[in-house]
Amino acid sequence: MRLEIDVPAARAEAAAAVAWAVGAQGVAVRDASTGDAPPGRAVICLWLPEEDADAGRHRVAERLGPLLPEARLRLVPERADWRPAAIEPVSVAGFTLVPLDDGPPATEPPVGPGTLRLEPGSAFGGGTHPTTVLCARAIEAAFERDPAPRRVLDVGTGTGVLALMAAARGAAVAATDIDPLARRAARRHAVANGLADRVEVGEALPPGPFDLVVANLYLGPLSALAPALAARLAPRGRCVVSGITVEHRPTIERAFAAAALAVADCAALDGWIALTLAPTSTPEPP
Ligand SMILES: C[S@@+](CC[C@H](N)C(=O)[O-])C[C@H]1O[C@@H](n2cnc3c(N)ncnc32)[C@H](O)[C@@H]1O
Repeated sequence: MRLEIDVPAARAEAAAAVAWAVGAQGVAVRDASTGDAPPGRAVICLWLPEEDADAGRHRVAERLGPLLPEARLRLVPERADWRPAAIEPVSVAGFTLVPLDDGPPATEPPVGPGTLRLEPGSAFGGGTHPTTVLCARAIEAAFERDPAPRRVLDVGTGTGVLALMAAARGAAVAATDIDPLARRAARRHAVANGLADRVEVGEALPPGPFDLVVANLYLGPLSALAPALAARLAPRGRCVVSGITVEHRPTIERAFAAAALAVADCAALDGWIALTLAPTSTPEPP
Protein backbone atom coordinates (compact mmCIF):
# COMPACT_ATOMS: atom_id res chain seq x y z
CA MET A 1 0.00 0.00 0.00
CA ARG A 2 1.12 3.52 -0.66
CA LEU A 3 0.35 6.22 1.87
CA GLU A 4 0.47 9.76 0.58
CA ILE A 5 1.06 12.75 2.83
CA ASP A 6 0.09 16.05 1.29
CA VAL A 7 1.98 18.94 2.95
CA PRO A 8 3.20 22.46 2.21
CA ALA A 9 6.44 22.14 0.20
CA ALA A 10 8.44 23.78 3.01
CA ARG A 11 7.52 20.86 5.33
CA ALA A 12 8.40 18.08 2.86
CA GLU A 13 11.62 17.18 4.62
CA ALA A 14 10.00 16.96 8.06
CA ALA A 15 7.22 14.75 6.67
CA ALA A 16 9.72 12.49 4.89
CA ALA A 17 11.62 12.06 8.17
CA VAL A 18 8.39 10.94 9.86
CA ALA A 19 7.74 8.51 7.01
CA TRP A 20 11.10 6.82 7.51
CA ALA A 21 10.67 6.86 11.31
CA VAL A 22 7.40 4.87 11.15
CA GLY A 23 9.07 2.02 9.28
CA ALA A 24 8.24 2.75 5.64
CA GLN A 25 9.87 0.38 3.15
CA GLY A 26 10.47 3.28 0.81
CA VAL A 27 9.85 7.01 0.70
CA ALA A 28 9.60 9.34 -2.30
CA VAL A 29 9.07 13.08 -2.32
CA ARG A 30 7.01 14.44 -5.22
CA ASP A 31 6.35 18.11 -5.78
CA ALA A 32 5.78 20.72 -8.45
CA SER A 33 9.23 20.05 -9.92
CA THR A 34 8.23 16.44 -10.64
CA GLY A 35 4.79 17.53 -11.89
CA ASP A 36 3.04 15.64 -9.08
CA ALA A 37 1.84 18.51 -6.88
CA PRO A 38 0.69 22.08 -7.36
CA PRO A 39 3.24 24.83 -6.66
CA GLY A 40 3.90 25.20 -2.95
CA ARG A 41 2.71 21.66 -2.08
CA ALA A 42 4.55 18.35 -1.81
CA VAL A 43 3.34 14.77 -1.67
CA ILE A 44 5.38 12.34 0.41
CA CYS A 45 4.75 8.77 -0.78
CA LEU A 46 5.61 5.99 1.60
CA TRP A 47 5.25 2.29 0.93
CA LEU A 48 3.97 -0.02 3.64
CA PRO A 49 3.36 -3.77 3.59
CA GLU A 50 -0.35 -4.37 2.93
CA GLU A 51 -0.86 -6.06 6.31
CA ASP A 52 0.68 -3.07 8.10
CA ALA A 53 -1.17 -0.38 6.15
CA ASP A 54 -3.80 0.58 8.74
CA ALA A 55 -1.40 0.45 11.69
CA GLY A 56 1.19 2.36 9.64
CA ARG A 57 -1.34 5.05 8.83
CA HIS A 58 -2.10 5.47 12.54
CA ARG A 59 1.60 5.72 13.37
CA VAL A 60 2.04 8.43 10.75
CA ALA A 61 -1.06 10.34 11.92
CA GLU A 62 0.10 10.17 15.56
CA ARG A 63 3.56 11.54 14.81
CA LEU A 64 2.53 13.97 12.14
CA GLY A 65 -0.44 15.50 14.01
CA PRO A 66 1.50 17.63 16.50
CA LEU A 67 4.17 18.48 13.93
CA LEU A 68 2.06 19.17 10.86
CA PRO A 69 -1.63 19.50 11.76
CA GLU A 70 -2.38 20.67 8.21
CA ALA A 71 -1.03 17.46 6.58
CA ARG A 72 -3.56 15.32 4.69
CA LEU A 73 -3.19 11.53 4.52
CA ARG A 74 -4.52 9.11 1.91
CA LEU A 75 -4.02 5.41 1.51
CA VAL A 76 -3.60 4.24 -2.10
CA PRO A 77 -3.78 0.56 -3.07
CA GLU A 78 -0.43 0.51 -4.82
CA ARG A 79 0.01 -3.11 -5.64
CA ALA A 80 -3.06 -3.84 -7.76
CA ASP A 81 -0.95 -3.81 -10.88
CA TRP A 82 1.53 -6.34 -9.51
CA ARG A 83 -1.17 -8.90 -10.04
CA PRO A 84 -1.64 -10.77 -13.28
CA ALA A 85 -3.91 -9.03 -15.75
CA ALA A 86 -7.32 -10.65 -15.51
CA ILE A 87 -8.35 -10.42 -19.12
CA GLU A 88 -6.09 -8.67 -21.55
CA PRO A 89 -2.88 -10.20 -22.91
CA VAL A 90 0.09 -7.86 -22.41
CA SER A 91 3.47 -7.67 -24.15
CA VAL A 92 6.56 -7.37 -21.96
CA ALA A 93 10.16 -7.61 -23.18
CA GLY A 94 9.42 -10.05 -26.00
CA PHE A 95 6.82 -12.09 -24.12
CA THR A 96 3.04 -12.05 -24.34
CA LEU A 97 1.49 -12.64 -20.94
CA VAL A 98 -1.96 -14.19 -21.10
CA PRO A 99 -4.35 -15.33 -18.37
CA LEU A 100 -3.96 -18.95 -17.40
CA ASP A 101 -7.09 -20.82 -18.41
CA ASP A 102 -8.02 -24.23 -17.14
CA GLY A 103 -6.40 -25.93 -20.09
CA PRO A 104 -3.78 -28.66 -19.66
CA PRO A 105 -0.22 -27.70 -18.70
CA ALA A 106 2.20 -27.18 -21.58
CA THR A 107 3.97 -30.44 -22.33
CA GLU A 108 6.97 -28.83 -24.03
CA PRO A 109 9.05 -25.96 -22.69
CA PRO A 110 8.88 -22.85 -24.88
CA VAL A 111 11.76 -22.22 -27.23
CA GLY A 112 12.85 -18.67 -26.43
CA PRO A 113 10.47 -15.78 -25.71
CA GLY A 114 6.82 -16.41 -26.55
CA THR A 115 3.60 -16.71 -24.61
CA LEU A 116 3.53 -17.14 -20.85
CA ARG A 117 0.36 -18.05 -18.98
CA LEU A 118 -0.29 -16.55 -15.53
CA GLU A 119 -3.22 -17.12 -13.21
CA PRO A 120 -5.10 -13.85 -12.55
CA GLY A 121 -4.77 -12.63 -8.97
CA SER A 122 -2.53 -15.43 -7.71
CA ALA A 123 0.38 -13.39 -6.31
CA PHE A 124 2.50 -10.32 -6.94
CA GLY A 125 3.98 -10.17 -10.41
CA GLY A 126 1.44 -9.62 -13.19
CA GLY A 127 4.17 -8.38 -15.48
CA THR A 128 2.91 -4.85 -16.02
CA HIS A 129 4.25 -3.00 -13.00
CA PRO A 130 7.05 -0.64 -14.12
CA THR A 131 9.64 -2.42 -11.97
CA THR A 132 8.70 -5.79 -13.43
CA VAL A 133 8.93 -4.35 -16.94
CA LEU A 134 12.35 -2.84 -16.14
CA CYS A 135 13.61 -6.17 -14.76
CA ALA A 136 12.20 -8.05 -17.76
CA ARG A 137 14.09 -5.71 -20.09
CA ALA A 138 17.29 -6.08 -18.07
CA ILE A 139 16.91 -9.88 -18.24
CA GLU A 140 16.45 -9.59 -22.00
CA ALA A 141 19.66 -7.52 -22.19
CA ALA A 142 21.55 -10.04 -20.06
CA PHE A 143 20.59 -12.81 -22.49
CA GLU A 144 21.94 -10.76 -25.38
CA ARG A 145 25.42 -10.92 -23.80
CA ASP A 146 27.80 -13.68 -24.76
CA PRO A 147 27.81 -16.08 -23.00
CA ALA A 148 24.13 -15.97 -22.06
CA PRO A 149 23.34 -16.66 -18.38
CA ARG A 150 22.99 -20.37 -17.63
CA ARG A 151 22.16 -20.17 -13.91
CA VAL A 152 19.74 -17.48 -12.74
CA LEU A 153 18.51 -16.54 -9.25
CA ASP A 154 15.18 -14.66 -8.95
CA VAL A 155 14.69 -13.31 -5.41
CA GLY A 156 11.13 -12.21 -4.56
CA THR A 157 9.72 -14.17 -7.46
CA GLY A 158 6.00 -13.48 -6.78
CA THR A 159 4.10 -15.21 -9.58
CA GLY A 160 7.44 -16.31 -10.99
CA VAL A 161 7.03 -14.09 -14.04
CA LEU A 162 10.70 -13.06 -14.24
CA ALA A 163 11.91 -16.58 -13.43
CA LEU A 164 9.75 -17.93 -16.27
CA MET A 165 11.22 -15.40 -18.69
CA ALA A 166 14.76 -16.50 -17.87
CA ALA A 167 13.79 -20.18 -17.95
CA ALA A 168 12.04 -19.82 -21.32
CA ARG A 169 15.35 -18.54 -22.64
CA GLY A 170 16.99 -21.75 -21.53
CA ALA A 171 18.43 -20.93 -18.08
CA ALA A 172 18.17 -23.08 -14.96
CA VAL A 173 16.42 -20.79 -12.47
CA ALA A 174 16.25 -20.79 -8.68
CA ALA A 175 13.27 -18.67 -7.58
CA THR A 176 12.71 -17.65 -3.96
CA ASP A 177 9.99 -15.84 -2.05
CA ILE A 178 9.21 -15.38 1.62
CA ASP A 179 5.47 -15.62 0.86
CA PRO A 180 4.17 -19.22 0.68
CA LEU A 181 1.29 -18.17 -1.59
CA ALA A 182 3.76 -16.65 -4.03
CA ARG A 183 5.88 -19.84 -3.97
CA ARG A 184 2.79 -21.93 -4.69
CA ALA A 185 1.78 -19.62 -7.57
CA ALA A 186 5.31 -19.65 -9.01
CA ARG A 187 5.36 -23.48 -8.95
CA ARG A 188 1.93 -23.66 -10.60
CA HIS A 189 3.05 -21.26 -13.29
CA ALA A 190 6.26 -23.18 -13.94
CA VAL A 191 4.19 -26.35 -14.50
CA ALA A 192 1.52 -24.60 -16.59
CA ASN A 193 4.19 -23.18 -18.88
CA GLY A 194 6.12 -26.42 -19.32
CA LEU A 195 9.07 -25.01 -17.34
CA ALA A 196 8.92 -27.06 -14.14
CA ASP A 197 12.20 -28.80 -14.99
CA ARG A 198 14.00 -25.47 -15.24
CA VAL A 199 12.53 -23.55 -12.29
CA GLU A 200 13.26 -24.57 -8.70
CA VAL A 201 11.10 -22.62 -6.22
CA GLY A 202 12.06 -22.30 -2.55
CA GLU A 203 12.16 -20.01 0.47
CA ALA A 204 15.86 -19.86 1.29
CA LEU A 205 18.55 -18.39 -0.94
CA PRO A 206 20.38 -21.31 -2.59
CA PRO A 207 24.16 -21.23 -2.88
CA GLY A 208 25.65 -19.72 -6.06
CA PRO A 209 27.35 -18.97 -8.22
CA PHE A 210 24.69 -17.49 -10.52
CA ASP A 211 25.36 -15.75 -13.83
CA LEU A 212 22.36 -13.51 -13.29
CA VAL A 213 20.69 -12.48 -10.03
CA VAL A 214 17.39 -10.59 -10.19
CA ALA A 215 15.76 -9.05 -7.14
CA ASN A 216 12.64 -6.95 -7.57
CA LEU A 217 11.98 -6.17 -3.91
CA TYR A 218 11.72 -3.06 -1.77
CA LEU A 219 14.34 -0.68 -0.41
CA GLY A 220 14.75 -2.32 3.02
CA PRO A 221 15.09 -5.97 1.93
CA LEU A 222 17.30 -5.00 -1.01
CA SER A 223 19.77 -3.13 1.19
CA ALA A 224 19.81 -5.95 3.73
CA LEU A 225 20.29 -8.64 1.08
CA ALA A 226 23.07 -6.85 -0.83
CA PRO A 227 25.93 -8.92 0.68
CA ALA A 228 24.04 -12.21 0.22
CA LEU A 229 23.19 -11.45 -3.41
CA ALA A 230 26.74 -10.31 -4.19
CA ALA A 231 28.15 -13.47 -2.62
CA ARG A 232 26.09 -15.58 -5.02
CA LEU A 233 27.14 -13.79 -8.18
CA ALA A 234 29.66 -15.35 -10.59
CA PRO A 235 32.74 -13.19 -11.22
CA ARG A 236 31.43 -12.04 -14.62
CA GLY A 237 27.76 -12.11 -13.57
CA ARG A 238 25.17 -9.35 -13.40
CA CYS A 239 22.78 -8.46 -10.62
CA VAL A 240 19.54 -6.64 -11.50
CA VAL A 241 17.71 -4.88 -8.68
CA SER A 242 14.46 -2.94 -8.74
CA GLY A 243 11.45 -2.11 -6.60
CA ILE A 244 12.98 1.28 -5.86
CA THR A 245 12.34 4.83 -6.99
CA VAL A 246 14.97 7.17 -8.30
CA GLU A 247 15.41 8.77 -4.85
CA HIS A 248 16.61 5.42 -3.48
CA ARG A 249 19.47 5.04 -5.93
CA PRO A 250 22.23 6.44 -3.66
CA THR A 251 21.17 4.19 -0.76
CA ILE A 252 21.14 1.09 -2.94
CA GLU A 253 24.38 2.02 -4.68
CA ARG A 254 26.11 2.38 -1.30
CA ALA A 255 24.76 -0.94 -0.02
CA PHE A 256 25.99 -2.80 -3.11
CA ALA A 257 29.31 -0.90 -3.32
CA ALA A 258 30.05 -2.22 0.16
CA ALA A 259 29.48 -5.70 -1.30
CA ALA A 260 31.83 -4.93 -4.24
CA LEU A 261 29.16 -4.42 -6.90
CA ALA A 262 28.96 -1.24 -9.00
CA VAL A 263 26.25 0.13 -11.28
CA ALA A 264 26.78 -0.90 -14.91
CA ASP A 265 23.41 0.35 -16.13
CA CYS A 266 20.36 2.20 -14.82
CA ALA A 267 16.97 2.24 -16.52
CA ALA A 268 13.94 4.24 -15.41
CA LEU A 269 10.19 4.00 -15.98
CA ASP A 270 7.46 6.10 -14.36
CA GLY A 271 9.74 7.20 -11.53
CA TRP A 272 10.93 3.65 -10.76
CA ILE A 273 14.42 2.44 -11.57
CA ALA A 274 16.25 -0.83 -12.14
CA LEU A 275 19.99 -1.01 -11.59
CA THR A 276 22.19 -3.58 -13.28
CA LEU A 277 25.23 -4.17 -11.10
CA ALA A 278 28.52 -5.86 -11.89
CA PRO A 279 31.36 -6.99 -9.62
CA THR A 280 34.13 -4.49 -9.08
CA SER A 281 37.65 -5.87 -8.85
CA THR A 282 38.27 -4.72 -5.29
CA PRO A 283 35.74 -4.31 -2.47
CA GLU A 284 35.32 -0.76 -1.17
CA PRO A 285 36.30 -0.15 2.45
CA PRO A 286 33.26 0.00 4.77
C1 LIG B 1 7.35 -6.56 -5.71
S1 LIG B 1 7.05 -8.22 -5.78
C2 LIG B 1 7.94 -8.75 -7.24
C3 LIG B 1 7.31 -9.92 -7.95
C4 LIG B 1 7.94 -10.30 -9.29
N1 LIG B 1 9.31 -10.73 -9.11
C5 LIG B 1 7.87 -9.15 -10.26
O1 LIG B 1 8.94 -8.62 -10.60
O2 LIG B 1 6.79 -8.76 -10.68
C6 LIG B 1 8.14 -8.64 -4.47
C7 LIG B 1 8.06 -10.07 -3.99
O3 LIG B 1 9.16 -10.23 -3.09
C8 LIG B 1 8.76 -10.99 -1.99
N2 LIG B 1 9.69 -10.62 -0.92
C9 LIG B 1 9.69 -9.53 -0.13
N3 LIG B 1 10.77 -9.52 0.68
C10 LIG B 1 11.49 -10.64 0.38
C11 LIG B 1 12.71 -11.21 0.87
N4 LIG B 1 13.42 -10.63 1.84
N5 LIG B 1 13.13 -12.38 0.31
C12 LIG B 1 12.43 -12.98 -0.67
N6 LIG B 1 11.27 -12.50 -1.15
C13 LIG B 1 10.80 -11.34 -0.64
C14 LIG B 1 7.30 -10.63 -1.78
O4 LIG B 1 6.62 -11.67 -1.11
C15 LIG B 1 6.81 -10.43 -3.23
O5 LIG B 1 6.29 -11.63 -3.76
